[in-house]
Amino acid sequence: MNRYESNFYTFKFQTLRKSQTTICNFHNQYSNFHAAAPEEKLIIDGGKKLSGHVTISGSKNSSLALLAATLCCCNGVSKFQNVPVSLSDIQKMILVLQSLGARVEYHRINGEMFVETDGVVSTEPDHGAVSEIRGGFFVLGPLLARFGEAVVALPGGCDIGARPVDLYVRGLRALGAMVEIIYVLWSRNGKVYAECGRGRRLKGGSFHLDYPSVGATNTLLMASTLAHGVTALSNVAQEPEVNDLSKFLIKCGAEIEGAGTSNLLIRGKDKLYGCDEHVIIPDRIEAGTFAIAAAISRSCFSISPVIPAHLTSLLQKLKAAGCRITQTAHDAIQVSGICEENGIDRFKGTGIHIQTGPYPEFPTDLQPQMLAFLTTCNGQSVVQETVFEDRMRHVRELQKMGARVQVSGNTALVFGGRVNILELALIPLLGFGKINSPRHSGI
Ligand code: UD1
Repeated sequence: MNRYESNFYTFKFQTLRKSQTTICNFHNQYSNFHAAAPEEKLIIDGGKKLSGHVTISGSKNSSLALLAATLCCCNGVSKFQNVPVSLSDIQKMILVLQSLGARVEYHRINGEMFVETDGVVSTEPDHGAVSEIRGGFFVLGPLLARFGEAVVALPGGCDIGARPVDLYVRGLRALGAMVEIIYVLWSRNGKVYAECGRGRRLKGGSFHLDYPSVGATNTLLMASTLAHGVTALSNVAQEPEVNDLSKFLIKCGAEIEGAGTSNLLIRGKDKLYGCDEHVIIPDRIEAGTFAIAAAISRSCFSISPVIPAHLTSLLQKLKAAGCRITQTAHDAIQVSGICEENGIDRFKGTGIHIQTGPYPEFPTDLQPQMLAFLTTCNGQSVVQETVFEDRMRHVRELQKMGARVQVSGNTALVFGGRVNILELALIPLLGFGKINSPRHSGI
């Protein structure tokens, strides 16, 4: 369960069940715990409405990519605002940078961070830290591009699928690198060895991503900013966090055309320089999680700062399910799951169809939260996960709480509200099988 999911289930417990609930091993950014000890618990008295305002942190995924990108800069300090420094992933990323010789300073309260990578000489980051988080692997591109070689442990991250790195490897090879993965026997652990010659540069080239992977796009984008010549990347990820990375790199002196689109053209530079100021974008997954929390708890509260455009696919689905969304300022929304009828709150959420996909489609990181919400709506919903092949495990936990959900492959059929025998009998007749995702067949 990732941090958003654990936050979310807390809300669900807190608001829907009128009994006391104990959650063990709880950790999230709001509790300010970095690594939860096994005995840590939250005891929650349920049955209460939520109200007020929630302040959204800077994006975790943006921060991870931007911290890796500081390794492209051989001069000057990069200053960031709005880094969610208390998150364990960010702390681990700091360890990755420090293990290479970077200087990192930060203020825990205001999220200000200073990173200087002038003194970096090592090209092999701490394996333990890299192998625990997905974002640690992003350092592969900058190290290879700046020093001509890198040895980086295979990445960690949430256990939601196989999560291969073939696109990273093929993309870096297209830029002239030799890249090999050496696995530890009988395991998925290992190291990636990449080089184009110590002190040498990658060569600009063309690469088409079979799938718009966020991590592969980040890595290839960073690598090509320091390559000799021009690089054309097509079918790249268009997630806002990738765009944030482009904006940061441009401030550091990179030349990138097409930022925010599916095609990037990068003219390599000899050097990049630390950037005076970069404000990390608000975390759209955290904001989305709170929006769903308002819906599921039949509450009404506001959320800011947000970039409403980053939440379009989620807000459309929440509206379709019956919620009311009001933009109260350019960077603030109010989400209401309250529906008054004769002075009584009666939310009649409707069943809907969700299919996750690359941005701007519905984000996979909000799928578990949304699915839980749909268990509380009237009617049937269908939830299809197309990004990660093993991201339906949360359903078992929901079933323990009484949710009626049937999973087949990467599709869940959710029976919200009251279920009747006829609906259950229909399940086998609905042609309810695994989606044939072309990506999951060959990559
Ligand atoms: C990033 C986010 C994660 C989010 C995901 C999708 C970070 C740190 N994490 O993860 O929160 O859920 O994007 O929006 O930014 N794939 C391949 N080969 C590759 C690379 C990826 O087949 O070389 C597949 C993956 O197995 C997965 C899909 O592509 O099925 C999407 O993965 P990707 O976009 O790379 O996600 P991450 O960068 O790991």
